[in-house]
Amino acid sequence: MTAVRGCILHFLRDPGDASAPAEAYEYFEDGLLVVRDGLVAEVGPAREVSSRLPAGTPVVDRSGKLILPGFVDCHIHYSQTDVIASYGEQLLEWLEKYTFPTEQRFEDAAHAREVADFFLDELLRNGTTTALVLGTVHAQSVDAFFEAAEARSLRMAAGKVLMDRNCPDYLRDTPESAYKESRALIEKWHGRDRLLYAITPRFAPTSTEAQLERAGDLAVEFPDVFVHTHLAENRKEVAWVRDLFPWARSYLDVYARFGLVRPRSVFAHCIHLDDEDVDLLAEQGATAAFCPTSNLFLGSGLFDHRRMHQAGVRVGVATDVGGGTSFNMLRTLSEGYKVAQLADQPLSAIRAFFLATLGGAQGLRLDDRIGNFAPGKEADFVVIDSTATPLAARRHAQTATLEERLFMTMMLGDDRFIAETYVLGRRVHSR
Ligand code: GUN
Ligand code: ZN
Repeated sequence: MTAVRGCILHFLRDPGDASAPAEAYEYFEDGLLVVRDGLVAEVGPAREVSSRLPAGTPVVDRSGKLILPGFVDCHIHYSQTDVIASYGEQLLEWLEKYTFPTEQRFEDAAHAREVADFFLDELLRNGTTTALVLGTVHAQSVDAFFEAAEARSLRMAAGKVLMDRNCPDYLRDTPESAYKESRALIEKWHGRDRLLYAITPRFAPTSTEAQLERAGDLAVEFPDVFVHTHLAENRKEVAWVRDLFPWARSYLDVYARFGLVRPRSVFAHCIHLDDEDVDLLAEQGATAAFCPTSNLFLGSGLFDHRRMHQAGVRVGVATDVGGGTSFNMLRTLSEGYKVAQLADQPLSAIRAFFLATLGGAQGLRLDDRIGNFAPGKEADFVVIDSTATPLAARRHAQTATLEERLFMTMMLGDDRFIAETYVLGRRVHSR
């Protein structure tokens, strides 16, 4: 049993839904989080909770620092760690020029493991404790990733990319190998330790209908695994899908016809959708991943978070590294805020931190395990120092309210603000 003392914030529901947003969260300016056997035992005001602590319980004092549930990244490519910040192209050219050649190297299991180790340490350095991750077409890339995640006791979801056309030969699988290899990976990894599997067709243009059908077969056989893919990111991509699937009503309809739109389906980007698509996402209980740094970097377009929210679509925030330009969720929220500003729908700091924690957990339907400090949840959390730089300290000194403090943290924050990261109550990163 251990306890951590600090300014503790966690969400109970979506502040976007509450008539008074303050009812959506609990904030203990001087709070205590008690962890027993890796799970949250109790959270509350330090004065009250400490009176109940068994004598001799160690208390880690982080007074003045913000303690939040670990961040949840709803869409990221571990295999693109070395692609980040590659110049000058939009989606389709960027894939051909930078991404596919880099993904070829994951044929080599030792390379995959080296990148997986770096990637997971980088996530932890940035306060992210759960992510939905794409590997490459190589089954061994997923083994390497899960082995690295298991070694760190992380709650992670990942899958082998399915791709049997419109890609280089060296990255091509088939409908049958996609099915067999995914099935074997599900049986090996899904539900082992804290790991979960995602059926991962890269995107509609790189799968034949025969392959999407086999992906749909897997989805029927394994109803609680994730489906994870890209949707309506870039205008040229959307036009290409129209040519490749002339029978489909829309891009999303391609996935729907193969049974791939359902709870625990996570669609990255969701920029160029019509109202029928947005309603279908909501009706089917699927999730849209908002990837602001990637959407700006690749010139893809502006995600409409208000429209998604009003339609009742689950939304998570995602870095989408290597199309995205940062592993850091604070930087991602800051770009998300600017994207929303362009549509005159400013994203409050309260809602932004909800999206990065409980909202992401709800998007992945893992909110029974992670996302806030309800007793019994897995004790993954982050300690944030909002005074980590001279400018931040100066700006922080001017803040009077939690909202102001959170807002300056998300606008100025980066990995320097992530003082510590804890997984199951154990410290795994400290600056
Ligand atoms: N669409 C298909 N593949 C990819 C990818 O690797 N990154 C992004 N951002 N979009 C994609
Ligand atoms: Zn992506």
